[in-house]
Amino acid sequence: MSRHIVAPTSEVPSGAHKRFVIKGRPIAIFNLDDIYYGMLDRCPHQGGSLCAGIVTGLLQSPAPGQYVYSRKGEFVRCPWHGWEFDIRTGQSYCDPERIRSKSYTVTAQSGASVVEGPYVAETVPVRVEEDYIVVDV
Ligand code: FES
Repeated sequence: MSRHIVAPTSEVPSGAHKRFVIKGRPIAIFNLDDIYYGMLDRCPHQGGSLCAGIVTGLLQSPAPGQYVYSRKGEFVRCPWHGWEFDIRTGQSYCDPERIRSKSYTVTAQSGASVVEGPYVAETVPVRVEEDYIVVDV
């Protein structure tokens, strides 16, 4: 597994999502209340772009004529045939036991921590003012 710094956090604000290509893999990064989640941007059904899908919530029916809408913004619906995936886990809603989208660990790290390296050379003062999105692939 390797670490990739993909963008400043300001590129994917809370409630937004964006597609990145990391090591040749399309990865959709979602920001849910400033916690980042990564998902392979290729639907396990027939390859639709999940990043191009609608972000929605969970609709359940406890009884005929009743419904409960919850977890607003935590699911993405594939634009091709409507399969839905939990953004936090990649688990499908159509067949949770067998079908899931590949998930990736995504973190937001301070700019100061991502510019550190193992080698030391002559230094000059540098300030990093933004946080960055980091993906483990
Ligand atoms: S390709 Fe995603 S639901 Fe068919």
